Amino acid sequence: VVPTDGRWRFNPEALDPTIDAVVWGRPSQPAGAGMPSAACSALRREIALWRARHAPTGRFRPAGVHRISGTAIAGGAKGRALRALRAGALVGLTTPDAGPRLLDVIAEAAGAATLRGAALRLGSGGAALARVSLIDGTQALLRMAPAGSPADPAPTALRLRALAATGVDRIPCLRGIGETGGIAWTAESVLPGRRPQRVSLTLAQDAAAFCARLPAAGAAPTAPGEDLAAVAELLRDHATALRRLAGEVERSLGTVPAVLRHGDLWAGNLLVSGGCLRGVVDWDAAHPLAMPGADLLQLIATERRRRKGLTLGEVWLQRPWRWPQFTVVTESYWPAVGLRLTGELAELLAVAWWATETSGTLRRLPHRASDGRWLAANIDPVLAALA
Ligand SMILES: Nc1ncnc2c1ncn2[C@@H]1O[C@H](COP(=O)(O)OP(=O)(O)O)[C@@H](O)[C@H]1O
Ligand SMILES: [Mg+2]
Repeated sequence: VVPTDGRWRFNPEALDPTIDAVVWGRPSQPAGAGMPSAACSALRREIALWRARHAPTGRFRPAGVHRISGTAIAGGAKGRALRALRAGALVGLTTPDAGPRLLDVIAEAAGAATLRGAALRLGSGGAALARVSLIDGTQALLRMAPAGSPADPAPTALRLRALAATGVDRIPCLRGIGETGGIAWTAESVLPGRRPQRVSLTLAQDAAAFCARLPAAGAAPTAPGEDLAAVAELLRDHATALRRLAGEVERSLGTVPAVLRHGDLWAGNLLVSGGCLRGVVDWDAAHPLAMPGADLLQLIATERRRRKGLTLGEVWLQRPWRWPQFTVVTESYWPAVGLRLTGELAELLAVAWWATETSGTLRRLPHRASDGRWLAANIDPVLAALA
């Protein structure tokens, strides 16, 4: 594996002559990279990829050229342009007697026509995603990660299959699942629609109607306690306060009926067309025994964070569970789950949502646990306000 520099140069002559397979390239640029630097890198990248496809590279032949899509918080045309400019790429080169590539073996096992030129996306959880055409002509999204790692897509895929069996629609349908050479993979249907540029009131109401159909359990929610315990495990200095909070929340949750949550509900995981909700994707953070309404609080608060560039702590201190917008969006949700939005329920929602967000962030980015600025922005002020 040879990472190249920002000029996208790669010299196969410098490699050990016994090597029969090499992957070279660069990851995508971070979301902070501005237009000029992204445009310059994109130009060099395209020249390098053209050469990789067309100019001979010593004893190697191109086995696959993959763009790695970049990140952009913005939606719409601007977001698409930034994602394309910031993209990274991987070029796989092999000698004629090298064995088949793992990616191609997985593609074949999944029933995909080919993966040779597929764009890859590195999911925030650590899985690689590729959109492929299946042999029956339909499109599927392939998710791949080391089996048993936190990014292993199999548990989520099985949960989605169970969810589809309860009649919930607008979720990806599992088309294949397997393990090849230590890599767990799943293939899911590609849902119609696009990531919305913004979450309008109607879209949020659509999401509320969707959430109202997620299965309820005849038990109290356990997710808030589990999330707080997971955070306490990582934040030793705050462990006592977090465990006390978990105890209080657990006692108050006794009469609340748990529901299945999405757990990461924001514009980036919605698909929309004609202003209507067409799909809800990325179910990694789902939990069957969660706090009703927490997904919707997350949707509304995250939208505000995105628009105003706020931290979780900043938006939490604005108490979004008291915003008129939250009341309007959840108006028909509460009767559907047999609850009424009281002050007490709203306070429980506030803790449940914050616990989901912080445990999710610490699971994906464990180094945040020792990042003083992150703690001062998102943990300290919330715990102080709750105390
Ligand atoms: N089944 C699907 N159908 C259509 N688009 C999808 C599907 N799954 C994911 N996507 C798109 O790919 C993007 C990334 O997938 P996601 O599972 O959200 O990964 P992550 O958030 O970890 O990067 C989503 O924001 C969505 O736009
Ligand atoms: Mg996502």
